[in-house]
Amino acid sequence: MPREDDALRCEDGERRVRAMAVDDIPRVLEIERRSFASPWSERAFRSEITRNISADYIVVTCAGEILGYAGMWLFLMEAHVTNIAVDPDHRGRGLGAHLLLALMARALAHGLRRMTLEVRVSNALARSFYGRYGFEEVKIKPGYYTDTGEDAVLMCCADIGLVLRRKGE
Ligand SMILES: CC(C)(COP(=O)(O)OP(=O)(O)OC[C@H]1O[C@@H](n2cnc3c(N)ncnc32)[C@H](O)[C@@H]1OP(=O)(O)O)[C@@H](O)C(=O)NCCC(=O)NCCS
Repeated sequence: MPREDDALRCEDGERRVRAMAVDDIPRVLEIERRSFASPWSERAFRSEITRNISADYIVVTCAGEILGYAGMWLFLMEAHVTNIAVDPDHRGRGLGAHLLLALMARALAHGLRRMTLEVRVSNALARSFYGRYGFEEVKIKPGYYTDTGEDAVLMCCADIGLVLRRKGE
């Protein structure tokens, strides 16, 4: 199960997951802006990691460089993923999976088994990515995204412990 001090070898160095810090935000914003049409602001990330006691944000680094990040809110009965993105130049190398499994391990350590998230209906890649990690599509939330009015798909993973065991983390 990944922890902050875990280090995995990757092709170009040592891959680590650790909590996101305020100093990480400029690099996180670079990735965010390359990943989303309506990116979060500096203020949004800062507020999440300094003021929201339910929030847990992590980054994945390789050879010291941040290549991706993810965040979630830890509620009483479930964890809710708010954001996950990998630098476009480094996708398809297992970093997104590493981040998602790390979130799952951290949620499980808080005693949570259930994880939910919303994803844009048009984001077929992310929907299939989450599907590979135990998420099922539960329902459509009409007009959920205020920027474009696009619908969201609510996805739920009922047993993150099972996913972690199956993925051998
Ligand atoms: C979704 C995202 C985080 C995945 O990150 P990634 O590092 O490229 O994903 P990984 O390399 O870890 O791949 C994980 C799995 O998804 C599959 N996958 C990843 N990219 C894929 C693609 N373009 N086409 C098909 N399958 C893909 C991989 O085959 C892998 O499956 P496996 O575990 O069965 O081998 C990344 O594409 C991203 O940042 N997208 C933009 C931001 C976004 O849409 N975030 C989600 C918003 S809800």
